[in-house]
Amino acid sequence: MQTDITKLLGVEYPIIQGGMAWVAEHNLAAAVSAAGGLGLIGGANAPADVIRNEIRGARKLTDKPFGVNVMLMSPHAEEIAKVVVEEGIKVVTTGAGSPEKYMKMWKEAGIVVIPVVASVALARRMERCGADAVVAEGTESGGHIGEATTMTLVPQVADAIDIPVIAAGGIADGRGLAAALMLGAKAVQIGTRFVVANESIVHENYKDRVIAAKDIDSAVTGRSHGHPVRCLRNAMTREYTKLEAEGKSFEELEYLTLGTLRKAVMEGDTVNGTVMAGQIAGLINKKQSAKEIIDEIIAEAGNLLKNAGSLV
Ligand SMILES: Cc1cc2nc3c(=O)[nH]c(=O)nc-3n(C[C@H](O)[C@H](O)[C@H](O)COP(=O)(O)O)c2cc1C
Repeated sequence: MQTDITKLLGVEYPIIQGGMAWVAEHNLAAAVSAAGGLGLIGGANAPADVIRNEIRGARKLTDKPFGVNVMLMSPHAEEIAKVVVEEGIKVVTTGAGSPEKYMKMWKEAGIVVIPVVASVALARRMERCGADAVVAEGTESGGHIGEATTMTLVPQVADAIDIPVIAAGGIADGRGLAAALMLGAKAVQIGTRFVVANESIVHENYKDRVIAAKDIDSAVTGRSHGHPVRCLRNAMTREYTKLEAEGKSFEELEYLTLGTLRKAVMEGDTVNGTVMAGQIAGLINKKQSAKEIIDEIIAEAGNLLKNAGSLV
């Protein structure tokens, strides 16, 4: 299944694994890349040396291309921006803002730059500043989100810019991939389904919670302060929502969530931790290897697309 994105990234399949904070470390990224997708190491708020080690760890596991997600609001973003160049990373995705100030350095190093956007305006701005593609991420996604749904955002972004679009948010099977291609995307970025991959280091309690989730089990916290985050409902989201309704400041609420994603991912505390996951968690019902996940999605999308002609 070759598209503009598989050609741009030099990968077999149009599937990118989201650069998820705490989750997307070298084992998962390498497994996804080895299976023909593009694995990403999530920079999150980690110090630059941690990311350098993660990159080297992934290199030991695969000779296939993989990338790094640079979270631009991280206090270490500047150093990580340099580390990706020093380590010869070929693909960078960026979240939480605009990567304009790093663009010159990255382009000179031959890095493919793919910002994550949640609006047409930001997609246009990213194209103007030299991005090679964008991830159009809908509000169905796990983690930090925008307002537009994947279904509405992807075709509008695809119409607005000439660089390729990658669809993200609510995609977890071959139907999602086929639909995204029909909406004008050239690939998909998948987060929540890869959380439960065998190679993901996420605590089994977290994986089990994702697998047990139903369609309406996610909640969005932080909307009132303009920092919405989608995670699965639990004591933490209930407490957050209560304090948010009482008008607590963003700083107070941030303090409440400090370290709670780590608590869920590493310690398996799915009650008081932050269990980031998207609305599509309800569709995810088994743990598999990254290769099984990718093979299943590609086979299903291929069959659907081959048979689509019978509908017209
Ligand atoms: C646990 C978790 C953590 C995430 N952390 C990040 C992050 O640090 N940076 C980022 O750009 N996206 C992050 N995301 C979003 C994913 O990269 C991806 O775009 C999103 O999960 C796609 O939607 P889906 O969950 O419906 O597959 C995160 C998602 C999850 C589930």
